[in-house]
Amino acid sequence: MDKLVIDGGIPLTGSIEVSGSKNAALPILFAAILASDSVTFSNVPDLRDIHTTLKLLQMLGCACEYADGKACITPGTLLPEAPYELVSTMRASVLCLGPLLARIGRARVALPGGCAIGARPVDQHLKGLEQMGARFDLEEGYILGRCRKLKGAHVTFDMPTVGGTENLLMAAVLAEGETILENAAREPEVVDLANFLLACGARIQGQGSSCIRIQGVSELRGAPYAIMPDRIEAGTFLVAAGITGGELLVRNCPFKELEAVILKLRDMGMEITATPEGVLARCACPLRGTDLKTQPYPGFPTDMQAQVMALMCSAQGASVVEESIFENRFMHVQELVRMGAQIKISGHTAMVRGVSQLAGAPVMASDLRASASLVLAGLAARGTTHVRRIYHLDRGYERIENKLNAVGARIRREKE
Ligand code: EPZ
Repeated sequence: MDKLVIDGGIPLTGSIEVSGSKNAALPILFAAILASDSVTFSNVPDLRDIHTTLKLLQMLGCACEYADGKACITPGTLLPEAPYELVSTMRASVLCLGPLLARIGRARVALPGGCAIGARPVDQHLKGLEQMGARFDLEEGYILGRCRKLKGAHVTFDMPTVGGTENLLMAAVLAEGETILENAAREPEVVDLANFLLACGARIQGQGSSCIRIQGVSELRGAPYAIMPDRIEAGTFLVAAGITGGELLVRNCPFKELEAVILKLRDMGMEITATPEGVLARCACPLRGTDLKTQPYPGFPTDMQAQVMALMCSAQGASVVEESIFENRFMHVQELVRMGAQIKISGHTAMVRGVSQLAGAPVMASDLRASASLVLAGLAARGTTHVRRIYHLDRGYERIENKLNAVGARIRREKE
């Protein structure tokens, strides 16, 4: 296993590029199953989860090529099985369920286990697909799904679930009749998926709102598509500028899609300006604490909670962080405390009291965004930080140490 060794205390300056969005690319790659011919994607990030998805697509009968950020997927004779060995390494594998049922009427997908941040059930996916005519059995840890032909339905989610909305959206585009998704997730990644499906000939309205209407069509033709930039990677870089007291021009940075994050960073004292070349982020004054509560989009994204908490650790004053989406998304807290942070957890709320400077220490990554939080803390800390188990980080950040070293960081990747 690899670790990152970070010599902290250096203000980052220069320009840094955002890659394609992991959380848009994953559902969109699975959506290629729905097309009757080849699909070529660009701006596909070079991440572990992307390679896992391509491997799974090959096992499902698709020919896959990937090079230089481009992926070409050609669905062949589709097979129904998504094995545990792959699904257990990437929960998003469950997103093959909708497309398989839509195309071949059957699927055998390993039930995705929980992960560090929570139980992460898929009951909303299954309930919605059952309303469209699918039948499911659970056998030896696998979801067995079957249907003759999916039929349009009026589905209301118990909560705005990103994956659930994406699975039902992909199932509905080839179903018979109209499907209405109420209380749907409004995340930009859902919109990107809808835009790809529209490019292939799907009939969708309301993407980005909480009510999406889909008219099923008989066939989708592959269309070239560029994946949207990764707003969470971009937000991570904005925080990197603030936490090191530097100045970064973040290129390909979504601005509107990061509004809730940008408002919080400005509230803490950062200057964040959209320019024609990208988003300029700098520290205009000593940072001050703020409060935040994670919410479904357009609220503050849970995927930025750990990163902003790292920033709060050395801001003046107190901050309150409430995590309302996942039941266990404070795994980074104890590791930040090892670096001198003063944080107390009470249920779903963390109280952060800023300290003058964090101190480098050996810390352990536990999940993707917690890893990013520890890297950010290491960049700001006095001394050297060893972030272990960074395979978590490689799932969602493309060569992050290269990008950060190019703007002044001192990070080495070493074998554990
Ligand atoms: C997606 O996960 C993202 N992953 C997550 O990003 C992100 O944190 C999450 O959305 C919320 O924005 C991808 O897009 C690949 P949900 P997803 O279904 O779809 C509950 C990262 O770091 N729920 O919106 O799994 C669930 O337990 C990852 O990039 C049910 O109860 O999230 C959670 O509390 C981490 N039943 C809430 O809904 C269901 O059937 C939101 O989950 C589905 C979800």
